[in-house]
Amino acid sequence: MIMPEKLTIVRTVVELRHAVAAFRAAGRTVGLVPTMGALHEGHVSLVKGALDRGDVPAASIFVNPTQFGPNEDFAAYPRDEAGDFAKLETAGCRIVFAPDKDEMYPVPMLTTVKVTGVTDGLCGPFRPGHFDGVATVVTKLLMMAMPDRGYFGEKDYQQLQVIKTMVRDLAMPMEIVGMPTVREPDGLAMSSRNRYLSAAERTTALQLYREMNTVAQTVRDGRSSCSEATAAASKALLAAGFDKVEYLTVVDAESLRPFEKVTGPARVIAATRLGRTRLIDNIAVS
Ligand code: PAF
Repeated sequence: MIMPEKLTIVRTVVELRHAVAAFRAAGRTVGLVPTMGALHEGHVSLVKGALDRGDVPAASIFVNPTQFGPNEDFAAYPRDEAGDFAKLETAGCRIVFAPDKDEMYPVPMLTTVKVTGVTDGLCGPFRPGHFDGVATVVTKLLMMAMPDRGYFGEKDYQQLQVIKTMVRDLAMPMEIVGMPTVREPDGLAMSSRNRYLSAAERTTALQLYREMNTVAQTVRDGRSSCSEATAAASKALLAAGFDKVEYLTVVDAESLRPFEKVTGPARVIAATRLGRTRLIDNIAVS
């Protein structure tokens, strides 16, 4: 079978399954990169991650309404389909699934995938229903494409743990690969929402990464407890101009339970508000 070298754009589940089956029939494995579009270097790194593992990269672009709260930015979420297709093709992606809402949700959904435990803290209480929306749409995307591997960024670290937990618990026959956060040269984590920042906010935003690094060093060296280090960092962020620190904490890297003293693999993880932008980020403690 002759496989297309270019990016194939598919809009329906039937077309997606045919496109994936064609690569499978040629003996290839497939890696799915689920996205909501407005692609940046972070998304491109997920496509490269799939290529590096020998997978045929397939991406999805769907701004999923069920993971946005009533006062969140669903309507304003940046959309640039033509630009996204161009970036995917340049990165070496071979299939992109870009369904409309009726293709993803043809009938009112009576099923919700709910992951407990890892959703209890951090963003969970601040975004009620968000992880149900994510877990449900990611389940649908994985079942639609049936990839060998799914690629997700560590930037959304809690989301990554939710998806890993769900795939493990439901024995979904695929591997979930977490890829490192891609940062701007000055350290700001890349995010589709960074475009909401004004020039002044963009400068202030950098403090988040700096303060998280200070916390990581302090708790790694045992110079203070996790709660002391994160309280000092939150205070510094508010003094620097952040409007709110929803949370800034040190958690177990897998269970996401808070640490007071680090006794195993840990992440410093934070969600903040700066103007109209919600910024989240996380780093490993060591
Ligand atoms: O991380 C995202 O862009 C979204 O939450 C995802 C995983 C594509 C589900 O809509």
